[in-house]
Order: sequence, then C-alpha cells, then structure tokens
Amino acid sequence: MTTYKAENFPKLQNDLILRVSRGEKGERAPVWIMRQAGRYLPEFHEIRKDHSFFEVCRTPELACQLTLQPIDRYGKLLDASIIFSDILVIPQAMGLEVLMVAGKGPVFTAPLDTPADLVRLTENVDVEKELGYVYQAITLTRHRLEGRVPLFGFIGAPWTLMAYMIEGGGSKTLAKAKSWLWKHPKESHALLQRITDIAIEFLVGQVRAGAQMLQVFESWGGELSPDAFKEFSLPYIRQISNKVKERLAKEGLELVPMTIFSKGSWYGLEDLSESNYEVVSLDWTIDPAFARKMTNDKVALQGNMDPTVLYGGFDAIRETATKMVHAFGKDSRHIANLGHGILPTVDPEALKVYLETVQKVSAEIRK
Ligand code: CP3
Repeated sequence: MTTYKAENFPKLQNDLILRVSRGEKGERAPVWIMRQAGRYLPEFHEIRKDHSFFEVCRTPELACQLTLQPIDRYGKLLDASIIFSDILVIPQAMGLEVLMVAGKGPVFTAPLDTPADLVRLTENVDVEKELGYVYQAITLTRHRLEGRVPLFGFIGAPWTLMAYMIEGGGSKTLAKAKSWLWKHPKESHALLQRITDIAIEFLVGQVRAGAQMLQVFESWGGELSPDAFKEFSLPYIRQISNKVKERLAKEGLELVPMTIFSKGSWYGLEDLSESNYEVVSLDWTIDPAFARKMTNDKVALQGNMDPTVLYGGFDAIRETATKMVHAFGKDSRHIANLGHGILPTVDPEALKVYLETVQKVSAEIRK
C-alpha cells in the first residue's frame, strides 16, 4: 500500500466551522451534511458499482474520491468534508464480520448472542494495524482537499456499536441489545469499556493522520430512557472526549473541536453540553430555542432540518430552511446540517437549494 505522509498539508482556506465550534459567532452559519458522500449522488454509484461498500472503505484512493465528490460538486456551498468510512469498522476491528447487503443495510454474520460470545472478540486490538486504512484515507484526503474545507473524522459511540454487535444489524426495538443492559449489566459495561478504549485510540489516530474535527455518532441514543442513557451511554461519551483531549495534548497534537450527535436524546442535552464537546448536534424533533435553553449557550449547536423536507420541492425547502436559520438566531453558534443523514433518493439539486438558502439567510441575519 502506498503511504501518504501526514505532514505539509495544504493551507486551510475556509476555517468557518472551526471558528464557530470554538466559540465565535461567525459571519454566517457554516453548513455540511451528514452522509453527504452517499447514494443520492450519481457519481457515488459510478464508483460503488464496481466495488463492495467495505472494499471502498478499505481502499484509501476510493474513500478519498468519494469524500471529495460532494466538495467538488457543491464547491463553496459546503464548509466541511467527512471521511468516507463507517461506524461499523470498529466492530470489524474487534473481530466481527460485517457485510453491507443491498436493500438491507449492515449484516453481522455472527452477532453476539450472550456474554459467553465475548470470547470471540479480539483481545488487545491493534488499532493501527486493523484500521490504518482509515488513517491513510484521511491523510490522502487532506492533501487532495487542497485546504478547501476542514476534514471530519468520526466514530460510532459505544452504546450504538454495542447495539449493532448484539442485534447483528438494524432493529425496530433493540430488544436483544437492551435485554443485555437489564440482564447482564456488568458484562454490558465491560463491552462498552472495550469499545471505548478502541474508540479513543482510533480518534487520536485520526487526528494524527490529519482529521481537523471529530464527530461521535450515538445514533441509537434515543432508544434509551434518561436513566439508562446516564448509565450506559453518557459516561462513555464523556470518557471519549476527556481522554481524546488528554491524549492529543500529551502528544502535542492539535486539540480539534469535537461534536456529539446523540439522536433522540433531547432529555440529555444539558448533560451533553457539559461533556467536553464543543458542538452538540440536534435531530429535527428538537426545537432550537429549547436546545439553547438546555445547553445554556455553552456549546455550538448543529442541525437540524428534517431530512425528508428535501422531498418537498424547492419552495418548501427554502421556507423550512429559512425558518430553521431564524430559529437558531443570529446570536447563536450554529452549524447548519440536517437532523440526520441525507436519504439516498434525494435530488442533489434539492440539497443545493438547502445549502444556498442556509448560507444566504444566515449571512443576512448577521449583518
Ligand atoms: O458522508 C458521510 O457522512 C461519511 C460516511 C458515513 C457513512 N456512514 C457512509 C455510508 C458515515 C459518517 C456513516 C456513519 C454511520 N454508519 C452511522 C451513523 C450515522 C447515522 O446514520 O446514524 C450508522 C448508524 C452507520 C451504519 C450504517 N452504514 C447503516 C445503518 C447503513 C445502511 C444505511 C442504509 O440506508 O442502507 C450503512 C451503509 C452506509 N454507510 C452507506 C454509506 C454511504 C450506504 C451503503 C451503500 O453504499 O450501499
């Protein structure tokens, strides 16, 4: 494998999202989109048709090309890029096989059924060896971005990854994964801790490779009650931010801003704003004014238009995006995004209307 050096990166030309994350108000709201490199883009299918999903993830050249697609297409309308990969690369590194099945999503060939199955997981995972391909993709992409926008690295949060490892894929109720929490709390905590240790190492490695921001995806946060969230999700989310920052400081690496997206965790917003993350990302069920109150202006807020509004026609998109920008307001640290990933059948031109509206309206209200 060719190695790319994490040095002499081109100078960053657009640091708006970094400034807003760190506490500035910014001349307008920076904007990017979760899953912005994805199936709604015809150029994505052009590459995907010849390669399996995880083959793309493991091939730095291809992962880099996909990461750049939305940046090339939308140009100055996007203020960040996110490395093309998946949250499920950590369970793979721990020894579980995951396939991406068309029309079904991720499938684990042998999920964890009972705690007795924990012996199947690799002890002392060598993160560099197992996930070095992500580092390579990040380093290459930093060079090819030519400083246009910052590059996000990311991971799945421990509870979400544990749930996938037990359910073996998507699930309506998470009944199997949640049974572990009640029936096997000790083993659940042990598993969450093992994932956390790898997550910390992996995020530090991503920054070393060139990631300029980090996002933690707790996609299944909203499946937990407030009490269960406090016990099984929040402590690990906090350990990750605290220890990543400690490690970055110790290694003399840049203290990059960190974002937490715990989907559905409206009840946890105050706790999340006190968790050593610079940005708290909101899904579309949360009113921006409520979020601002709960988080006491301690963090930047990211989000949060309902992704399905992109099916509503250009006028509805303009109207809803304008309302959203006003709801976050001119005085707030706001990073515009959708409330969850963009859906695969959206018209790329509809996304363009959203990005244009956000940039225009958020600049106007700050004048
Ligand atoms: O552009 C980006 O945002 C970067 C790449 C990215 C992907 N997945 C690519 C992807 C990111 C950040 C993710 C995160 C991810 N993966 C999450 C957290 C975000 C969220 O949506 O809550 C989750 C839960 C996963 C797990 C996962 N990966 C699922 C459930 C699926 C199937 C989705 C579906 O609708 O079929 C994937 C597959 C996946 N990850 C695709 C992409 C572009 C599509 C796969 C394909 O090409 O067939």
